Amino acid sequence: MTKLITHEYDVVVVGAGGAGLRATLGTVEKGLKTACLTKVFPTRSHTVAAQGGISAALGNMGEDDWRYHFYDTVKGSDWLGDQDAIEYMCREAIPAVIELEHYGVPFSRTADGKIYQRAFGGMTTHYGEGQAQRTCAAADKTGHAILHTLYQQALKHHAEFFVEYIVLDLIMQNGECRGVVAWCLDDGSLHLFKAHTTILATGGYGRTYFSCTSAHTVTGDGNAMVLRAGLPLQDMEFIQFHPTGIYGAGCLITEGARGEGGYLTNSEGERFMERYAPTAKDLASRDVVSRAMTMEIHAGRGVGALKDHLYLHLEHLPPALLHERLPGISETARIFAGVNVTKQPIPVLPTVHYNMGGIPTNYHAEVVIKQLSPETQVASPNLPYMRGGVSPDKVVKGLMAIGEAACVSVHGANRLGSNSLLDLVVFGRAAALRCAELITPNQPHTDLKPECYADALARFEKIRNTDGKLKTADIRLAMQKTMQNNAAVFRTQTTLDEGVAEITAIRESFENLGLKDRSLIWNTDLVEALELDNLLAQASVAIHAAANRHESRGGHAREDYPQRDDANWLKHTLTWLHKNKVKIDYRPVHLYTLTNDVEMITPKARVY
Ligand code: FUM
Repeated sequence: MTKLITHEYDVVVVGAGGAGLRATLGTVEKGLKTACLTKVFPTRSHTVAAQGGISAALGNMGEDDWRYHFYDTVKGSDWLGDQDAIEYMCREAIPAVIELEHYGVPFSRTADGKIYQRAFGGMTTHYGEGQAQRTCAAADKTGHAILHTLYQQALKHHAEFFVEYIVLDLIMQNGECRGVVAWCLDDGSLHLFKAHTTILATGGYGRTYFSCTSAHTVTGDGNAMVLRAGLPLQDMEFIQFHPTGIYGAGCLITEGARGEGGYLTNSEGERFMERYAPTAKDLASRDVVSRAMTMEIHAGRGVGALKDHLYLHLEHLPPALLHERLPGISETARIFAGVNVTKQPIPVLPTVHYNMGGIPTNYHAEVVIKQLSPETQVASPNLPYMRGGVSPDKVVKGLMAIGEAACVSVHGANRLGSNSLLDLVVFGRAAALRCAELITPNQPHTDLKPECYADALARFEKIRNTDGKLKTADIRLAMQKTMQNNAAVFRTQTTLDEGVAEITAIRESFENLGLKDRSLIWNTDLVEALELDNLLAQASVAIHAAANRHESRGGHAREDYPQRDDANWLKHTLTWLHKNKVKIDYRPVHLYTLTNDVEMITPKARVY
């Protein structure tokens, strides 16, 4: 049991979704010895479920400019996004997507052979004037296409994959990350992976909720490791509800459905989004559409016997278009809602889809800890020393985070649809480029002190041998119901305070967990318990952060504080977890750009 197999790598990537694979590919291309550890087979990672597309101002379907994309993303973020990182992402989107095309991603095509691009919510031209077609799509299976291509490329470059390895914790020594401890499901062995840089690409924590579009594996394992390492998570209160999850099942119906001409109606047959967002209508940003839908339902204009959902119409669109551009969701609607999309509307409901918060990083993907007080930043948004890539943050040596696990923060308080696949590849690539700058291939490793991984092994053993009365599934259900009810689209101090108390108690109840299977080989009971422990930590910091933020911004809509409050809340929340206590502090929003090619956008009211 205590025998540990030690490995030495230049880079260890944890997670094999779009971000993890792009980083893995990038580091092996640069000659760095890289191991990618993943709990599921790479092409089963949750990126495979991404449907609508990846944004990049290619201008294949009409005029576009990366500066428009920058503007839309800042506005979409409700000004909580870091504008240096947003500039980096939107500018780099163009070469990053062309690179994907050259790697072999089978994008849909225009008549003249260019990458097909569709309209998505919040994506405009001329700074809000026109509707952009910016989202590059492979029908409605874009994540699938990207994931398979990146995996094939990584194999071609001889990346080493450790599949069905559960990473237990980071190995931190003198404040630096030196690798990870992992458990191999296949043979039950335990491993130390030494690395000069560890890249967390472990995804979000959607499964803290009862109804979400995320796979059951989306348990934010890297985020929880960061909390256990005594580091903070950022902006965990910002949880995105996708407007169109299938009612009852929660499966995603891509925003691309509205991009291709679909629209929502209420029980009166009214296209209600025209009232809430007169210009963008059904293609307003997701936070706006999800709030509008919730208000319609609260006003008694929901559909169905319980009047608790709404309709998404595609039946007016040509069947050939549905077949060519939206085959995946046509099948999903048939299987999970019993609906023929050429004839009937799809019953839909806002469903948890994405976590804007995560591990704080700079735009090189390095994990950072705060240096400046938020007051300094807000009072002097153009501090010259913050320009040109000089960050006021301190880097945690040896640790990077990318994709949904990270909070870089390009999405701020609300992510625009199709900026997620983009975030994955741009910052996966950025992490690899940074590793190549920092690491000389095969540079020697120093010894690890056993006390640096003793806690990880002790936690594993404690959970494996736990002998209480409660079942993992029951504790998980209690957590998911509380998050669903108490940290919903609309929140109040009462619901959130109640949620804080409930999640604290549910987390305490984990001490009374009982597992029956104590084996080490393919012990899925133990996997689920470890994942639940991770989820509980994130539910705890997320609901505390939500109760603490007394304003409405992006995905965080407070009925009792309906306005955005820049004077007091234009700042990132940082949350630490120690035992069952949450500590909160803040970090400045980067209200500056990287270069003079684009101007910082001053916060203003958001109108769609
Ligand atoms: O609606 C969608 O296809 C989802 C895209 C995204 O979250 O970026």
